Amino acid sequence: MPGMELFGAEERKEIMDVLETGALFRYNHDEMRKGHWKAKELENEVENFTGAKFAHAVSSGSTAVATALAAAGIGHGDEVIVPPFTYIATVEAVLFAGALPVFAEIDENLCLSAEGIEKVVTDKTKAVLLVHMTGAAADMDSIMPVIEKHNLTLVEDAGQALGAFYKGKSVGLFGKTGSFSFDFFKITTAAEGGLFITNDENAYKLADSYSDHGHDHIGNNRGMENHPIIGFNYRISELHAAVGKAQMQKINMLRDKNRANKQYLKEKLSQIKGITFRPMPDPEGDSATFLNFFLPTTSDAGNVMKEFVKDGVQGCNYWFTNMYHFINQWDHLKNLESAAPLAIHHLGAPQDYNNLQLPKSQEVIGKLISLGIKATWSKAEMDMLADKMIIAIKRIIG
Ligand SMILES: Cc1ncc(COP(=O)(O)O)c(C=O)c1O
Repeated sequence: MPGMELFGAEERKEIMDVLETGALFRYNHDEMRKGHWKAKELENEVENFTGAKFAHAVSSGSTAVATALAAAGIGHGDEVIVPPFTYIATVEAVLFAGALPVFAEIDENLCLSAEGIEKVVTDKTKAVLLVHMTGAAADMDSIMPVIEKHNLTLVEDAGQALGAFYKGKSVGLFGKTGSFSFDFFKITTAAEGGLFITNDENAYKLADSYSDHGHDHIGNNRGMENHPIIGFNYRISELHAAVGKAQMQKINMLRDKNRANKQYLKEKLSQIKGITFRPMPDPEGDSATFLNFFLPTTSDAGNVMKEFVKDGVQGCNYWFTNMYHFINQWDHLKNLESAAPLAIHHLGAPQDYNNLQLPKSQEVIGKLISLGIKATWSKAEMDMLADKMIIAIKRIIG
């Protein structure tokens, strides 16, 4: 959770720039804002860092995924392949787009696998919404040929993976459109916020308008702007963008600290026989926000987590029972409980969500424990944490 750990003078300065002018709105008000355009500056930071031709800041990672889907042309009735391990926003975005989620298997890299995608592709499949989980990229060398072979649209939900690259290319740039989250728990936070990225100018224009009631943002009389498409309000405020901008200026430093701390802990935990680590196809590109390790069995992992709780080991996630990240706990979704009818209620679900067979995903997530890496840990804190973890794990697997 490095972003929140290093909130300081830089963020306060950027916020004060906005508060002193009172220009809280990201568009127009040119004179009032005295040269401060925080949303635009945040977008420039993300463009420079990722290498994207276009970045567009919005109100959250969730609205960024929604924008990425819309700008890629995914909507009513389209079947979209999604993973069963993600933050639930991914699936909600598909449903609220009027599209139909189709679940496929992940593998030990914690993302959709090429084989998993291939198995569920049908004539009706329109897109893959690929999620780069826990700070590192999916296996793009094996996934891209499947996307191309079936002529699918690739949209990337990189909500957890800003700072992750695959063989030198930022996540979010392999498909038509991509998205990042800047919520409170991410490598860089804006309190709440998200970023849409693309190399496709037309997709960028659609995203720009879609996320602001269709405005074309031409000229400086907002009330007289044209609206080429129907949109909605997914705007980011200047205050949030100010925080995000300051955090982007720290991302290289945050990632370096993450990587060093993750490596240190990984070496310590490596001495335990029986645990294995996430096999990343490009470890060099890891943003290192999590150290993911596997116990020999699901019951071992569950028991280790109980020992961690007893011993006060903090910062470990067991997604297998987490309410928001793994399909086993998504009964509301499987039963299509919603406040109001969605397209899927009229069109029908493409799979029997209550009887999905995803044995590989069950096995992988059952055995997985993810330790959130902190950038501010001292060596002494890491030694203490590793010692406690090793003792607890050995109690279960010897
Ligand atoms: C993969 C993924 N997508 C989307 C989101 C949604 O982001 P936000 O919380 O900013 O709406 C998250 C948030 O954790 C996420 O992990």
